[in-house]
Amino acid sequence: MPDQILPATAYTSDDWFRAEQASLFQNAWHLAGFEPDFAETGDYVTLRAGKSPLAILKDGNGNLRAFHNLCRHRGTELLEGRGNAGKTLVCPYHRWTYGLDGRLRGVPDQRECFPDLNKSRLSLHDASVGKWKGMVFANADPNADFAAWIAEVDSAAFPHDLTCADLQMGEELVYRMHCNWKVFFENAIDGYHLAYLHENTLGGPKPGLNHWDVHGQAMVWYSTERDGIRNRIPKFVEDQARNTGTPKIKGAEDPGYGGVYMLFPTTIITPSPWSLTVSTLEPVDANTTIMRARTWVPKSWWASSEKPSQAPGYDPASGEIQSRFWTQHPLETGDFQTEDIWVCEKMQRSLHAPNYSVGALAQGTGGEDMLEVFQRWVREAVQ
Ligand code: FES
Ligand SMILES: [Fe+2]
Repeated sequence: MPDQILPATAYTSDDWFRAEQASLFQNAWHLAGFEPDFAETGDYVTLRAGKSPLAILKDGNGNLRAFHNLCRHRGTELLEGRGNAGKTLVCPYHRWTYGLDGRLRGVPDQRECFPDLNKSRLSLHDASVGKWKGMVFANADPNADFAAWIAEVDSAAFPHDLTCADLQMGEELVYRMHCNWKVFFENAIDGYHLAYLHENTLGGPKPGLNHWDVHGQAMVWYSTERDGIRNRIPKFVEDQARNTGTPKIKGAEDPGYGGVYMLFPTTIITPSPWSLTVSTLEPVDANTTIMRARTWVPKSWWASSEKPSQAPGYDPASGEIQSRFWTQHPLETGDFQTEDIWVCEKMQRSLHAPNYSVGALAQGTGGEDMLEVFQRWVREAVQ
């Protein structure tokens, strides 16, 4: 029988949150963006990997580069948000200027203020970057091995490619969830709840009829409802979609690939014959997690695809989706994401209770086996 490894405090305490930032997230691969974000020279995105602010940009040779987003003078963050940096990176504080290759080029009043400065020793600190199927990942460690990490994921079938001209990207959905990131992650890898919490939205599969595979530090989910064939979607959902005539994505029509790819610790990819969603988890504090989700659909289906403002709990003022803006009971929304957030927030409140404990975890990879695997990974990373 799988075991609960982490204590309740792992999901609620500031100490755990800080320890995860310093070790687990610091050394992990995080989704930074998508290839279209880097169309022009100088295009950049920023992100955080644990305690490190990073910037990914397209340099003058057309290559993606990753830097620590810290000026080498006194450490100010160089770039903000996302955009185009032009031909150089200029620190707003004292205007030290770097090339798109990260080399320090210009120092105002250098002769007067820094007569002995050796600029060649003050390039931006390197980080690592890697591309896969149109997604761009970054790691704070300059020696991180992207090829080795992604090879594990790549060993699972995955037919979608975001650079495909047939696909159109939707607006970003931003969920502010009042739960620890691990509560959400564990819910996503829990095969036991699908037939119960999601009875009316996903309609299963039952624990014996779904399956998780482990590829390195990635987990891939399949429905096995049809004679054990590995399918990417619950049968209930596939039957409904068939009736609506939704167009399928070229190359993704046939079974054989997974329906959920959890790339530990923060990337969630959910492909289907009709769409591809890529989500990232951003732990804000022990009790709060932001999830950002983008969905691609065939261009011909674009007008019919869901917009953020249609999501239950969408708040026009902040542009965020939150449980406190729900106008219906979660189980009446017909939205499985809302059902998941509902139970995750209920779990988070329980985790603070003195009587909280885990009685047992359901056996089987279509049960709760993956929770033990996940918790072991967290435990190993957080020393
Ligand atoms: S901190 Fe960047 S120029 Fe001074
Ligand atoms: Fe769920």
